[in-house]
Amino acid sequence: MPRWLIYLIVVLVVLSWIPLAFIVRARSATSTKPRLHVVTDMDNQPKYKGQSRNRLFQDRRAMRPQVAGTVARGTFSEDESLSHGRRPDGEWIDVVPVRVTMTMLERGQERYDVYCSPCHGLTGDGNGMVSKRAEELQEGTWTPPSSLHSELVRGRSAGNLFNTITNGLRNMPAYGPQIPVDDRWAIVAYVRVLQRSQNATVEDVPTELREQLR
Ligand code: HEC
Repeated sequence: MPRWLIYLIVVLVVLSWIPLAFIVRARSATSTKPRLHVVTDMDNQPKYKGQSRNRLFQDRRAMRPQVAGTVARGTFSEDESLSHGRRPDGEWIDVVPVRVTMTMLERGQERYDVYCSPCHGLTGDGNGMVSKRAEELQEGTWTPPSSLHSELVRGRSAGNLFNTITNGLRNMPAYGPQIPVDDRWAIVAYVRVLQRSQNATVEDVPTELREQLR
């Protein structure tokens, strides 16, 4: 092999390391500049986010308060107990205001597993995956989800549970905008099933089956 060819190969090999070196540097260094954004997908959208300013309005709020005397399309319900879980006197209703069937409970279970179990766990003990991970990170900012089997939560009326799902509570976000009314009641009914399942006594088991427990 001629000498010049060997030199050329050496030079090319050395040069081929340069892009790699840049990649390694870019991956390990920190930067305050936005990263190179080749495929933008829908990352940058001209829109107003919650709590942001909008100069169009006099009060500069992008989030608009509901106009008095109006109802958002598709959300009108004359039935206070069904849509808010309250009696006309403002008290929480005690029982689920729709007929509880097996199909409804199965729907409730499915919806609970989707929306609630990441935090509250599949059995409602408050030990869902999101919560486990958050505690592992030890950032100190995580409020553990309540166990649904505490005396307090078991004592909550159906209307109150419905309201917690709809509007959230302290550190729990609101799920009203994501879960339709019927599904919210199905979830409430299923929460009752979970509570029953974790707090049952021998008396709840039919007499003829009790022998099998021992
Ligand atoms: C993102 C996590 C998260 C999800 C998802 C979530 N919760 Fe919660 N939930 C919490 C936290 C955190 C609390 C405790 C709030 C506090 O004390 O600040 C809580 C509290 C509760 C309570 C107790 C309220 C009380 O009266 O003390 C109930 C009941 C409840 N959640 C039901 C649900 C149901 C039903 C769903 C599904 C629709 C759900 N949660 C989804 C985090 C979550």
